Amino acid sequence: MIRKTLIAGNWKMNGLLEDGIALAKGVAQEVKKAGRKDCEFLICPPFTLLSSAKKAIKGTKLMLGAQDCHYAEKGAHTGDISAKMLQDIGCQYVIVGHSERRTNHYESNELIKQKAEAAINTGLKVIICIGETEAEKDAGKTIAVCSAQIEGSVPEISNGQNTVIAYEPVWAIGTGRTPTTAEVEEVHAAIRKVVAKKLGRANANKMRILYGGSMKPSNAKELLALPDVDGGLIGGASLKVADFMAIGEASKQ
Ligand code: 13P
Repeated sequence: MIRKTLIAGNWKMNGLLEDGIALAKGVAQEVKKAGRKDCEFLICPPFTLLSSAKKAIKGTKLMLGAQDCHYAEKGAHTGDISAKMLQDIGCQYVIVGHSERRTNHYESNELIKQKAEAAINTGLKVIICIGETEAEKDAGKTIAVCSAQIEGSVPEISNGQNTVIAYEPVWAIGTGRTPTTAEVEEVHAAIRKVVAKKLGRANANKMRILYGGSMKPSNAKELLALPDVDGGLIGGASLKVADFMAIGEASKQ
């Protein structure tokens, strides 16, 4: 298989020390037990839990990522965290451009691109999030919006190894609603085409495109079976070991 499945948990702003460590440990143990060679697992806890999560998952193949980074390496940026700092404490991945950051922190494609570039140059892998709002979907603009987001927020230094794209329809996040499987496949295939135009066919074929937005054990199998869906970026269901691992199990072909 050209692309290894990636099952990634975005914990968002959830988890205090005790339950966060327990969740990380629980997932790590199950990942170890599962012994999958065809699928990678990643957790992205909040910044405050990264160090302790790193210790909790030690000795397993579970990977660690953060939910955002600054584009500068260091300096006068109160409250920000650099990609270098994330790498320093053992992160392999960072999510950038999540719709909650695009909306709540007014992040532009340009800024997201700078963050992605900084993360890649530091040696981290990036998960760049894109996705349309409900109004954009209703206006038939889904593919145009996603294409513009790829154009604007995926840097030229991205390739099939260092970058993952997550397609997360904004209206599907935390709502229990999902697009039909036909819609998901159509958008993912279109994303791959745009990536091919921008970065070349070889990179597009290697690049993983995750689906995110109300993915759960009951709908994961049909979503993960789609040819251009290479894994999931999971919010709510990543906060329960059993649900997260059940989604992983559903990725088995
Ligand atoms: P939910 O799985 O809670 O819908 O969140 C998806 C998401 O935003 C992951 O980044």
